[in-house]
Amino acid sequence: MSTIDFRSEAESLFEYTRDLRRDFHRHPELGFQEHRSAGIIAKTLRELGYDVTEGVAKTGVVGFMRGGAGDGPTVLIRADMDALPIQEETGAEYASENPGVMHACGHDGHMAMGLTVARMLAAHREEWRGAVKLVFQPAEEGLGGAESMVKEGVLVGVDYALAMHLWNEKPLGWLGITDGPTMASADIFSIDLTGRGGHGAAPHLATDPVLAASHVVTALQSVVSRNVDPLEAAVVSVTIFKAGTAFNIIPKQAHLEGTIRTFDPEVTAEVRTRARRIALEVAQAFGCVSDVKIENISPAVINDPKVAAVVRSAAAELFPEATVASNHRTMGAEDMALMMRDIPGCYFFIGSANPQKGLDAPHHHPKFDFDERALPIGAALMAASAVRLLNEGVSE
Ligand code: NI
Repeated sequence: MSTIDFRSEAESLFEYTRDLRRDFHRHPELGFQEHRSAGIIAKTLRELGYDVTEGVAKTGVVGFMRGGAGDGPTVLIRADMDALPIQEETGAEYASENPGVMHACGHDGHMAMGLTVARMLAAHREEWRGAVKLVFQPAEEGLGGAESMVKEGVLVGVDYALAMHLWNEKPLGWLGITDGPTMASADIFSIDLTGRGGHGAAPHLATDPVLAASHVVTALQSVVSRNVDPLEAAVVSVTIFKAGTAFNIIPKQAHLEGTIRTFDPEVTAEVRTRARRIALEVAQAFGCVSDVKIENISPAVINDPKVAAVVRSAAAELFPEATVASNHRTMGAEDMALMMRDIPGCYFFIGSANPQKGLDAPHHHPKFDFDERALPIGAALMAASAVRLLNEGVSE
């Protein structure tokens, strides 16, 4: 069968994609406030012939289109829309005009690539089967955008799910298309320790929760080093430690918070059990009582190997010179996991750093910016992967 040259098409649309990206970048919006972005997306999708639903999960937009080549599966393509509460320091000509808010993760690029994919798929509508559902998701940055969209039924009728992330940890020309887990499950934990307050000069009359909490923090570091299989991945980070009001007062309480990151459900369960036990029993050994809460905020992003194989074969055809990693994992989390929990999918990474141009600050940094030549790469790979899934499915 003839294949569409999405690489050339995406390159010829470079200025279109870049201008969209820069416009989104100038006007960043926080989660569930993406009204301007949503308006542009909805208008563009309508002009391209999509059936558009606005206001999904408050500010989300869904565009639906059936192909002209017959019945087939429905492929969901997701792009996230939200910016971060960061004051931009790039000095770029297209820098944020919204003080204190910045597209510092690349979601501006994701929206621009999503619209470019929409445009290319619409132009080739007669050449693919089935249907595409383009999902522009609000509030990815820990605010529950995917969960809201799933609750509102965005997955109904979907056979495959695709999403991608520009990735500044890797250079332009690198692609991460992994089999199995690629982003981690994330828990938030909080530990409240209660002792007995007193005078800083009379510790023997008090029960010091600061000392107990310090030992809990230290002991928690043994979970990964002593309880988890060394060939498995896990992180336990204590990121908040609050206690006390004055130099001469032993406080009554101390508060700890942090995150647990894992890929494997058995490892997750083991880490939770050990962390809880340490928090309870170490505190008790120091005469304190502790209250432990552990809550999952996102499961792991797990790629279906058959869908990942389709994306890799599209990458091999479009970008034979690219470096393709099939084992790329990050302990970062992504709520796309909720859209891929019951639907086979692939979440892939597009290398976007260019150290020669100074475009290699990490995600969520005030100087974050990426090489815009990554945009046509991502758009072409997404469109080609979708068309392969629509016309050929996965190989059994
Ligand atoms: Ni992101």
